[in-house]
Amino acid sequence: MLILGIESSCDETAVAVVKDGRKILSSQIISQISKHQNWGGVIPEYASRLHLDCINALLKISLEEANIKIEQIDCIAVTQGPGLVGSLMVGVNIAKTLSWIYQKPIVKVNHIYGHICANFLESNIEAPFICLLASGGHTMIIVMNNYHDMQIIGSTIDDAAGEAFDKVARLMNLPYPGGPEIDQLAQTATNLNAPTNIKSTAILNGVYKFPVAKVDNYDFSFSGLKTSVLRLKETLGEELFLQDKAKIAKAFQDCIAKTFLEKIQKAKDEFQIDQILIAGGVAANTSVRGLFQNSFPDLKLLNLKYCSDNAAMIAGAAYFQAEQKSFDYAFEVFSRMAKLSK
Ligand code: KG4
Ligand code: ZN
Repeated sequence: MLILGIESSCDETAVAVVKDGRKILSSQIISQISKHQNWGGVIPEYASRLHLDCINALLKISLEEANIKIEQIDCIAVTQGPGLVGSLMVGVNIAKTLSWIYQKPIVKVNHIYGHICANFLESNIEAPFICLLASGGHTMIIVMNNYHDMQIIGSTIDDAAGEAFDKVARLMNLPYPGGPEIDQLAQTATNLNAPTNIKSTAILNGVYKFPVAKVDNYDFSFSGLKTSVLRLKETLGEELFLQDKAKIAKAFQDCIAKTFLEKIQKAKDEFQIDQILIAGGVAANTSVRGLFQNSFPDLKLLNLKYCSDNAAMIAGAAYFQAEQKSFDYAFEVFSRMAKLSK
């Protein structure tokens, strides 16, 4: 089954063609990051206009890369939500138009489900599994006993992990998006030694170390960690904080990785599922990947290319929901996860 995937939920416009949920024939992405960077975050109205500017060209290039004509595809997969409403509408309207012109049914894909299905691309992973999903807008633990039903057992009660990265990067005068910037900076730290004359809850036995927030069950909280970085900045003073920012970046992302690991280990024991997957932009993080790889030697780490937003994951996800394909165009996009399309 050949599926054309369209993704435009945030600041990446993407079109891909995927065969049978796993084989990527093409995957084209245009990132808007450089356009939004001046404002330190995504400007929603601008994002939708930028999607509109490039989506037709991207569709053409993606079909060319896959070396197929649109008439050959079996259905169109499009992200319905969660995401920015105006941005989602660009993708959905293109999908509806193509569906009507070429008489190809649509599969509406939940973006979160798409991130999970990124793990099936170019791989032979099978259910059951526990997936840690950490992106700019969501942090969740999802148990899946089959390819279809997401059992969300925990999520963040405040900031998403990616959001914490982005906010802490701002404290460090690093550009948006903060995750990759903090990650790169953290890799330059050769030790975590902190000044000996300073008292802080973020310094333990002479090294920078942020405490893991204690949150019930499988839920997460990252706003306290972000505040700890802010308090540390106040305690150290601007100059010392910026001087030590690589060490602080490393301690910060180590704390996030440890938080993830503790929760996932608990879920693994309780649900008796050995296979662990990670997904979403934060799954690209070096500390997260390193800690998970060490803790779960059988872990099949998601390819870095498919951690962040892309359309191959959307086309892939639609394959596992292909029975939902339809010509019913009376559907809206949705901004929040509460309105699950599944
Ligand atoms: O999954 P994604 O591309 O988009 C959403 O669905 O939100 O995730 C974007 C988030 C951003 O917050 C970005 O800072 C973060 O993922 N991110 C990272 C890394 N690469 C991207 N966070 C930590 N380390 C990274 N290497
Ligand atoms: Zn995403």
